Amino acid sequence: MSDSLPLVIANHKANKTYSDFLSWIENVVGAPSAFGGTLIICPPMAFLGSAFEAIKKNAWKCKLGVQNISQFEQGAYTGEIAASQIKDICSYCLIGHSERRKYFNEDDELLRLKVEMLKGAGIEPIFCVQDQETLIPEGVSIVAYEPVFAIGTGKADSPHNARDVAKKIKSGGSFTVIYGGSVGSENVASFIEPGLIDGVLVGSASLRAEEFLSIIKNV
Ligand code: PGA
Repeated sequence: MSDSLPLVIANHKANKTYSDFLSWIENVVGAPSAFGGTLIICPPMAFLGSAFEAIKKNAWKCKLGVQNISQFEQGAYTGEIAASQIKDICSYCLIGHSERRKYFNEDDELLRLKVEMLKGAGIEPIFCVQDQETLIPEGVSIVAYEPVFAIGTGKADSPHNARDVAKKIKSGGSFTVIYGGSVGSENVASFIEPGLIDGVLVGSASLRAEEFLSIIKNV
C-alpha cells in the first residue's frame, strides 16, 4: 500500500439516491483540503463511474473503493462485478464486513477467494475483522477492526480496547490497522494513534457531507 496514512474511509452501504450521492461528493471533494492522509470513498457500485469523474477534478488525495466484489473472474455470472472489470477506477475493496457475513453468508473460504481475485487485479483489500480471532487471509495488508456491537449503534468501542485489539492483530503480521464502528467527528481523534491505529472506517456519519468533513479535519 503506497497511499499516505491516515486512511479515512467512507462506507455508504446501500444509502442515498444517485442525485443525493452526486451532491454529497461535490460537497466533500469540492471543499478545500489540507488533509495529509488518504480519503477513500466506497459508494454503491452503480455510482462508481460518476464518483471516479468527480474525484479526478479535485486536489484531494482521494481514491475509490468498492463495498464488495465477485469471487469469480469476468464471464457468465449474471449480476456480478469482477475485480478485473473495475481495476482501472478502483484502488480498494471492503472485504469481510460483518453485514456481508451476516446477510450474505460470506464465510472464510469465500473471503479468501475474493481477496485472491482482488490481489490478482491489483486492488487492495480492506479486510474487516470483528475481533482479534477473525481469520485473515494471505495477501491482506490493511485490516479494519470493526466490533459488531459498535456498527451503526452509536456505541463505539473504547479507544483503549481498540488499541489493545490493534496490537493483537499486528502481532499476527505486518498490517496497517484501522478502526470502524460509530466513528464521528466527536470521537475520531481518540482512536487515531500513528503506527497502531492508522485510520477510520466510517458508515452512518459519512453520509452527511458536513459531518464527514469534520471527521477528516479532526483526524
Ligand atoms: P457505522 O458503520 O460508522 O455506521 O458504525 C461502520 C461500518 O459498518 O463500516
